[in-house]
Amino acid sequence: MEIKQGIRRNFARRAASYDRHAAVQRFMAQELLRRAGGAAARAARILEIGCGTGYLTEQLRRANDQALVVALDLDPALVQRARARMAQDPGVAWVVADAETWGGRGVFDLVIANASFQWLTRPEAALRACFRSLKPGGRLAFSSLGPRTFQELGASLKAAANYLGLAAAPLIPAQNFLDAEAWQRLLRQAGFVQVDIFREERAVKFPSVIQFLKDLQATGATNPRPRPFSSRLLRGFTEIYRSMHGNNGSIPATYEIIWAMARKEVSGFRYQVSGNENVPEKYL
Ligand SMILES: C[S@@+](CC[C@H](N)C(=O)[O-])C[C@H]1O[C@@H](n2cnc3c(N)ncnc32)[C@H](O)[C@@H]1O
Repeated sequence: MEIKQGIRRNFARRAASYDRHAAVQRFMAQELLRRAGGAAARAARILEIGCGTGYLTEQLRRANDQALVVALDLDPALVQRARARMAQDPGVAWVVADAETWGGRGVFDLVIANASFQWLTRPEAALRACFRSLKPGGRLAFSSLGPRTFQELGASLKAAANYLGLAAAPLIPAQNFLDAEAWQRLLRQAGFVQVDIFREERAVKFPSVIQFLKDLQATGATNPRPRPFSSRLLRGFTEIYRSMHGNNGSIPATYEIIWAMARKEVSGFRYQVSGNENVPEKYL
């Protein structure tokens, strides 16, 4: 619970600066919508999890202005900001709730979430809740970040901790994010079929390590249980980061992006693992 409150607080504090700094999250959302394609355009009811300041919510309504959208987030200040952004759009209902316990009752055609699932503390509970919320035949589509995210930061911290003779390097939250294989397994355990996972590593350039850290802070993507670094460690790892990874006056920060698509099967009908090739899409 303490970690979840930390996650909520981090994002709520950065509600005002999030949109200016969330370029990767916008890319993740655009790609998510492209991959969800027809499912987003056709859906009559959509549940969006972790709506934050409402970037994806707005894009969803542009893609499908007929759908009824329920947009949910842990934090009331973020939901308030998203609602203001959408100018009281009557097609969106706003909910402040925890996606790990909030249960729809099998009414949604699409459950979608952008850049939020890496922060779930009980992903298996959240996937079960998504499954319950979907109609038979409904789809789940989400993007998340994987454990190779900020690998340069993790490696520089480790090297600096070694150099300074510290017992252990501080862990960054990304090192505990779930990887593509774990999502694949959890989706199947939750009952989903037709699970498709895509992964991409994307290096973003920053003018300095400090600028990168400020950017992270501005999006709220920081440690939910903050443990400030000593000035020795901060100096040490920024220096190591620059010398190990810097190039032509900039430093890279890698984001490991995962997109997942899955389906709740129509009850009473089991999909074949193979052999569906000749069956028209509308029957599946
Ligand atoms: C990086 S932000 C993404 C916001 C938005 N989807 C976007 O693309 O800009 C992650 C969001 O997930 C929300 N979140 C994290 N854990 C959650 C949970 N268990 N239930 C609901 N929302 C959650 C946070 O409050 C935050 O607004």
